[in-house]
Amino acid sequence: MPDQISIQSPADFHVHLRQSKMSELVTPHVQEGGVSLAYVMPNLVPPITSADQAVSYLESLKSLAPSTQFVGTLYLGPELTPDEIAKAARSGVRGVKSYPRGVTTNSDGGIEDYETYFPIFEAMEREGMVLNLHGELPSDIEKGICVMNAEPLFLSHLEKIHRRFPKLKIVLEHATTRAAVEAVKRCGDTVACTITPHHLQLVVDDWAGKPLNFCKPVAKMPDDRQALRDVIREGHPRFFLGSDSAPHPLANKFPSATTHGAPAINDTGATTGVISCGCAAGIYTSSILIPLCATLLESFGALENLEKYVSKNGRDFYGYPVDPATPPLVLKRVQPVGKDGVVPPVYIHPDFVNVSDSDPAKVQVVPFYAGQRLAWEIAQ
Ligand code: NCD
Ligand code: DOR
Ligand code: ZN
Ligand code: ZN
Repeated sequence: MPDQISIQSPADFHVHLRQSKMSELVTPHVQEGGVSLAYVMPNLVPPITSADQAVSYLESLKSLAPSTQFVGTLYLGPELTPDEIAKAARSGVRGVKSYPRGVTTNSDGGIEDYETYFPIFEAMEREGMVLNLHGELPSDIEKGICVMNAEPLFLSHLEKIHRRFPKLKIVLEHATTRAAVEAVKRCGDTVACTITPHHLQLVVDDWAGKPLNFCKPVAKMPDDRQALRDVIREGHPRFFLGSDSAPHPLANKFPSATTHGAPAINDTGATTGVISCGCAAGIYTSSILIPLCATLLESFGALENLEKYVSKNGRDFYGYPVDPATPPLVLKRVQPVGKDGVVPPVYIHPDFVNVSDSDPAKVQVVPFYAGQRLAWEIAQ
């Protein structure tokens, strides 16, 4: 068992870096987590739908973390045009993210829906842009679609788009099921797949009733997790890291009677208000990303493929070789004494350190593995 590992500089091909105070808090964490290239998601408020917006967003990120390389994406929607795709490509925007809502815009559901976007996909294929698919159908209980089967039921869309646009680079994002792994393997070399570290660890039991572990797509069955682990252990070249690190203010993870109005039950036991139990989807991993990946891969016998998973495979697929000036990342094994390797309980934006924890406006984020010890850390 090695006590030190050196790998070419990691890249995270799916990360949410948000806006405003949250962005100030989390953007510098990308480098702390061991990553030098961040492929940034466009689901801001409002979403990024133009080349100009993408460029100014990337500038704002760069000012928060000058030594990180940021790569931008657009949000797929009806306002996107082939001309804007060409302009975005010239501005260095690399991909377009399609969210499930995109499946149903201007349509009433079903497999034909993506055809609305075929002129966009054609332009993307021409420009060498990447289609990033959030591979879930929206839940529709009457039709039997829920969070547990939303991904397998989406896969026919992936295969259809790939058949129609065989040269278009497509990434199935944050795969969570054996069916997804098999579908991506069946596709040609232009189709790849990101796998998050949290989906290499969690199953249904870990998020049911546990808001900090709740994300979309939800973690699935033990056999699905096994398929994700196996494809990483195999070192398959078209599977790689996209963390989907998605910070949410702690208050949005635990919306309570206090933050959402009247208590649901009064002192007599009668219901008096609407029970608010919704919790924001997303797991935060940027600040600990590569040590976390090393810890998890070692736990299932895949440590020797760490470099392929967190650096080589994704960089090869996207065509972002490591800048020769960027040094390798060195990890060292945490010694089982003291506080080394223990993940912080929470990150708080400096403007909010003196604000009460119960204030919903407080910008604070709890990371995955909070308070637990990782087996690896970044060597200084
Ligand atoms: C969201 C969406 O549908 O747009 N994706 C998801 O399924 N969680 C992301 C977002 O809010 O932008
Ligand atoms: O868990 C998730 N959080 N999944 C997504 O697709 C979106 C993300 C977010 O932006 O919070
Ligand atoms: Zn997504
Ligand atoms: Zn995401």
